[in-house]
Amino acid sequence: MQNQRGNGSGDREKIFTLEATPIKYGPGASEETGWELKRMGVDRVMLVTDPGVVAVGITGRIRSFIEAEGITVEVWDSSRVEPTADSLQAAADFAREGNFEGFVAVGGGSSIDTAKVCDLISTHGGEIMDYVNPPVGGGKKPPSPLKPLLAVPTTAGTGAEATTVAILDIPEQKVKTGISHAYLRPNRGVVDPLLTATMPSEVTSSAGLDVVCHAAESYLSKPYDERPAPQSPDDRPPYQGANPIADMWSAKALEYGGKYLRRAVSDGDDVEARGSMMLGASLAGIGFGSAGVHIPHACAYPIAGLKHEYRPPGYPEDHPFVPHGWSVIVTAPAAFRFTYPSQPERHRQVAELLSGQRIEKADEDTLPEILIQLMKDVGAPRGVRELGYGEDEIDQLVEGATKQQRLLVGSPREVTEEDLAGILRESMENW
Ligand SMILES: [Fe+2]
Repeated sequence: MQNQRGNGSGDREKIFTLEATPIKYGPGASEETGWELKRMGVDRVMLVTDPGVVAVGITGRIRSFIEAEGITVEVWDSSRVEPTADSLQAAADFAREGNFEGFVAVGGGSSIDTAKVCDLISTHGGEIMDYVNPPVGGGKKPPSPLKPLLAVPTTAGTGAEATTVAILDIPEQKVKTGISHAYLRPNRGVVDPLLTATMPSEVTSSAGLDVVCHAAESYLSKPYDERPAPQSPDDRPPYQGANPIADMWSAKALEYGGKYLRRAVSDGDDVEARGSMMLGASLAGIGFGSAGVHIPHACAYPIAGLKHEYRPPGYPEDHPFVPHGWSVIVTAPAAFRFTYPSQPERHRQVAELLSGQRIEKADEDTLPEILIQLMKDVGAPRGVRELGYGEDEIDQLVEGATKQQRLLVGSPREVTEEDLAGILRESMENW
């Protein structure tokens, strides 16, 4: 009789799960934040946000919607764009001391990730590094669900409202890594396209390309049933690999990215395009929260983490950094050229979804060319060199990417260090 569970003797996974954040979407949806929190049963919350979101008045408005429901709010407004262990620690200390009943995140992926970590530490205690993915951290799993967390994203990119990860930068180790567990997924998301109205076009570009990569990498990840079956359900990874349910979400997000990103970048007042990108970010978040991302995201970690020299236009000027979406997109064309032989038909489908056109015959360059055209049209950097790296730094970048085994195992084609070096070399200049 066949073993029902993995026994290490070559059984393949037969099971996949869909765990999605319930999302409320629409112009003005954020006015219902207080109402949503009320029915989550919390009376005292920590609101996690960042100075940029405070400055444009969003935080104050949402705070008033929450207080109107009789809920006490304490604001933490020091979330850092691209959080570090130190910035997370300060927020987590505030959370622990405050003994809050729940959390609200108002901001981009950084604020939402900061709130996830605050929730984790305030619920279960311990040190942040205990929970960080190995080999960088201890990989400890939270023993039970966290306190309620409601996420209100203000950028259309990360999909952090829908995902189970919190990303952090560890400058001492020159590495970006994360905490990853199903309990980190926010309990609810409120997605209001009116909140992105003040976003500079560069931020829209980077965030939107991140959406496109989440969806493309998920759709082109190693199918869930090619993984060995886990020893126990607890060992099933949050990133399960491509599966029929994740495909639906990823496909829709690809279609939206191809159709609306150019418009959202070129005209900030195009509410339909901005709203669709914001919805696309959530759709892609659900897709990659199930299937997972791989080579471009693995390369993005060292590209963003190794050097801190790039000063992105349109972003806060307090510290140099590479915006996440741009750090991801620069290696995507070469990565998908590399993965093409593993699943030619699915690469053709992604090209078709992104271009919105029927593509009868495709080859390994079809999808990369469509991506490069999109990058050009939305003002993305030309490649890894423009972000501050030369050929002599490829070894270091490969070393950093290789640390992201959690992601690289999701590649549909096995990827060696030499393969990564080749992808990075091809990505120096995409045009
Ligand atoms: Fe991403």
